[in-house]
Amino acid sequence: MLTALGELREIFLQDDGLSGRITCPSGLVPAPGQFLLAGRPGSDDPLPVPVFKAADSAGGFLAAAPLPETWLPGTTLHLRGPLGRGFSLPKTCSRLALVSLSAAPARLLALLPQALAQNASVVLVSGFIPADLPAAVEVQSLADLPEVQKWSDFLAADLPRESLPGLRELLGLSPEMPPPTGQALVYVPMPCGGLAECGVCAVNVKRGWKLACKDGPVFDLSDF
Ligand code: FES
Repeated sequence: MLTALGELREIFLQDDGLSGRITCPSGLVPAPGQFLLAGRPGSDDPLPVPVFKAADSAGGFLAAAPLPETWLPGTTLHLRGPLGRGFSLPKTCSRLALVSLSAAPARLLALLPQALAQNASVVLVSGFIPADLPAAVEVQSLADLPEVQKWSDFLAADLPRESLPGLRELLGLSPEMPPPTGQALVYVPMPCGGLAECGVCAVNVKRGWKLACKDGPVFDLSDF
């Protein structure tokens, strides 16, 4: 884990808020599903915020929305990370389902370079479809999710903690059916990144409570 300064070089207005291009030392660039804690040095901002990668960018990375609206191009950022457990896309994956139950799928799209490099077919299920989505990615609706999960050999999801209780039903799983092979990024506030053990990021899994900032935010689907 590193601590260093970075800079927000550009911002982009997306469906779910501001995304942005951040420059930083290469060792700070988070892997898909990992995050940095970022804040403005010397500001009155109450807490640092988790920042996830949406895509690679020269000298840093494209950060997924939502970034704070007070961050403007040229803002210096104090960055700490990479933190947490990210996605582990198997090298053998040939049918990848990306399933976003969050506002937008940007955090999942960070998996695309690896998936396309290994010639995996990719289906995206999301209520928000990015304008610059590669043509190789097929789009399906939420109603098709049970079929998509059966088709996939790996399912990567992004969802708010509140949607965990209804996840199996959305996937079309009866109580006795095992979950599909895959992982889920559980999106929760992570104000301390584990430093203060605040517990705000607690996620209820089969074996009890886990901290998203340390044990996640990416969990195996078999945990739910
Ligand atoms: S963010 Fe404080 S314990 Fe996870």
